[in-house]
Amino acid sequence: MSRREADGGAAVPAADGIRTRTDENPSGERRTGAPAALRLVGIEKAYPMPGGKLEVLRGVDLTVPRGMILAILGASGAGKSTLLHVAGGLDRPDAGSVWVDDRDLTSLDRESIARFRARRLGFVFQFHHLLPEFTALENVMLPALWAGASESAARERAKDSLLRVGLAERWTHRPSQLSGGEQQRVAVARAIVNRPDLILADEPSGNLDRENAQRLAELLVSLATENGQAVVVATHNERLASLASAVLVLDGGRVREPLPMEAERP
Ligand SMILES: Nc1ncnc2c1ncn2[C@@H]1O[C@H](COP(=O)(O)OP(=O)(O)O)[C@@H](O)[C@H]1O
Ligand SMILES: [Mg+2]
Repeated sequence: MSRREADGGAAVPAADGIRTRTDENPSGERRTGAPAALRLVGIEKAYPMPGGKLEVLRGVDLTVPRGMILAILGASGAGKSTLLHVAGGLDRPDAGSVWVDDRDLTSLDRESIARFRARRLGFVFQFHHLLPEFTALENVMLPALWAGASESAARERAKDSLLRVGLAERWTHRPSQLSGGEQQRVAVARAIVNRPDLILADEPSGNLDRENAQRLAELLVSLATENGQAVVVATHNERLASLASAVLVLDGGRVREPLPMEAERP
């Protein structure tokens, strides 16, 4: 019996502790009553420094349902990247728990977190981090291969993803042969190739001109609205913030609702 078949997640997890796509029903639809895509509970994170601890997150609680695009605003140094890294299992919190779907990442060992991340999470960073020696198609195929897809399946999924981000005609281009906006869209294609439930984006348009930033914002929003994927995005981009289903401000190590003026002018 899969975890999905047992409401409340009482079933025995898969051997590696990671639920696979076969646990979904054949249409790929999630069952109703599914857990939130992301839930942070009481997250605390400090960095040890010579002069004492630097407390960055001081009790962050956050729930992101499927299909929501949540924009996180906050001054530089407020802890947005730290929050996204903790949410994606790239970094461990000092206290609190990180639930992605039905898994508490803080209960997993490093290897299980890495496997979980490869299959279930998509990351987009400010700088695309594409591998320069590979084509767009190969860059997008890699996470599918890491997640265990055959080469032909990975190729098909990568093509689908590139089509999805509007770059079907750029498969054979290497990153240096793409514009900044196109590079970021390849990075988004790479993030969605395993059809993750949760996409974490850290100032993804921070490096783009206005038009490309707008296009990227619309792409992220369409992923959430059309595919039901949850997107959490740290951004200074007004357009992206205005398109988000919810906006939170990270300030003093906690999240809060923005004041009306802040929401209009992040
Ligand atoms: N590995 C680290 N070691 C020590 N301090 C860090 C580390 N990473 C981030 N910080 C500090 O934590 C604070 C929050 O950083 P960050 O999460 O990158 O903020 P933001 O993304 O909102 O600009 C900053 O003051 C930063 O200097
Ligand atoms: Mg940052």
